[in-house]
Amino acid sequence: MMLDKRTLVLLSLTLSQRSTLARAQDFAPGVLATGTQGVTNPPVPTLPTTIDQTSMARLLSINSIDDFCIFAPPSFDTIPNTETVEVAWCTQPRNNARVIPDGTLSGVSFLHTPFYIQVFGFGNLTNLNIAPNDAGGELDPHGAFGTGNPVGGNVSTTIIDGFDRPLAEWMLFIDWQYFCLRICTNANTTYDPAHMCWHELDEMGCEFVMPGQYNFQGGVFETCDADAAYPPGWYPQVVNGQTTFSTFAQYFTGVYTGADGQPTGYTVGDTVTPTAPATIPQSSNCVTQATIANGIPLISLTPGAKGTAPPPGFSSVTATFVANTLPMPTSSVNVPVKALGSSSISSPSSPTTNSNSAVITIPSGIYVVAFIAGAAFFVLG
Ligand SMILES: *[C@@H]1O[C@H](CO)[C@@H](O)[C@H](O)[C@H]1NC(C)=O
Ligand SMILES: *[C@@H]1O[C@H](CO)[C@@H](O)[C@H](O)[C@H]1NC(C)=O
Ligand SMILES: *[C@@H]1O[C@H](CO)[C@@H](O)[C@H](O)[C@H]1NC(C)=O
Repeated sequence: MMLDKRTLVLLSLTLSQRSTLARAQDFAPGVLATGTQGVTNPPVPTLPTTIDQTSMARLLSINSIDDFCIFAPPSFDTIPNTETVEVAWCTQPRNNARVIPDGTLSGVSFLHTPFYIQVFGFGNLTNLNIAPNDAGGELDPHGAFGTGNPVGGNVSTTIIDGFDRPLAEWMLFIDWQYFCLRICTNANTTYDPAHMCWHELDEMGCEFVMPGQYNFQGGVFETCDADAAYPPGWYPQVVNGQTTFSTFAQYFTGVYTGADGQPTGYTVGDTVTPTAPATIPQSSNCVTQATIANGIPLISLTPGAKGTAPPPGFSSVTATFVANTLPMPTSSVNVPVKALGSSSISSPSSPTTNSNSAVITIPSGIYVVAFIAGAAFFVLG
């Protein structure tokens, strides 16, 4: 089917008035964040934005091995000292956040599971202001004030359905060399996001809380599918065909030796000392790549550096023809270039409009239309 650009624009302008964007009730309960962005954050995830290595923005986007963010200190310090004020550092110039300089990360595993996305990696995180030998800490959207650690920290992803969606539950463990991040993207009545991203086992370390098959240690950058683990601290037992779970709810102290050989003290459980997670899920369909790089000259990303425009190679995005009336933000450019097959987004909903993209349901399939710098692209579903 051939459509010229003008026809496509007109078609989308017409149909976007009744585009079938997902509503909150189309997502599993507890997956989407319902509150507002932290005050330091841009109103919606945005790519590109101008370099500002002094930024206090705290919005992570977790979209792919080439486009993700983590929290790290705003100035040179340990994680425990800065949990409430940490800022977003992104592999791409986005969200007004700081940019992770190329070469900082030496290996990353990016796992897609049915219930969460998990990113586990290592590198020289002193580049992100983490003090050498810092044993690190755990960050999550709860924190001592209920407003997140860091306060006003938020997480968004396009992975659920191609549109930026704010997520309610996530957890990040980070020290001066390693980080592991889980964002909870799905749920059912057995596994709710709060438990899948359970943030109270903060002394256990990545290999226990986020078990998986990871090849990043040798300097590999891989994207894989993986089975979901049981929620952290849950151990299944099957009796008469019924699965129930024992969990660790009270204090217990022990030492767990992770895959990196480092013993880690922890406090968890009430009767049994766990020495390993219930399972270590399999990965499959791994695709590796040589590295991840944004190509931005390191001189532009030194501490305190600021730019006046998006860096060369990242053209600015101007595509606003209808106001976005959804509470869920949509991205400026992270529109999928593959068709969306999910029934959860093609069900009828009240009329909504969207500034930059529209999912248009027509009888022969679903078109995803992206307006990027004035050019229109489409992919047949
Ligand atoms: C931002 O984070 C706060 C604190 O966790 C949360 O209450 C709010 O819903 C989040 N907002 C978005 C848009 O993710
Ligand atoms: C890590 O990066 C810092 C600069 O931020 C540098 O001084 C140090 O030598 C690097 N360490 C290693 C092991 O490469
Ligand atoms: C939730 O999903 C898991 C994993 O697919 C499955 O084992 C479990 O039975 C599901 N629970 C319900 C209530 O469907």
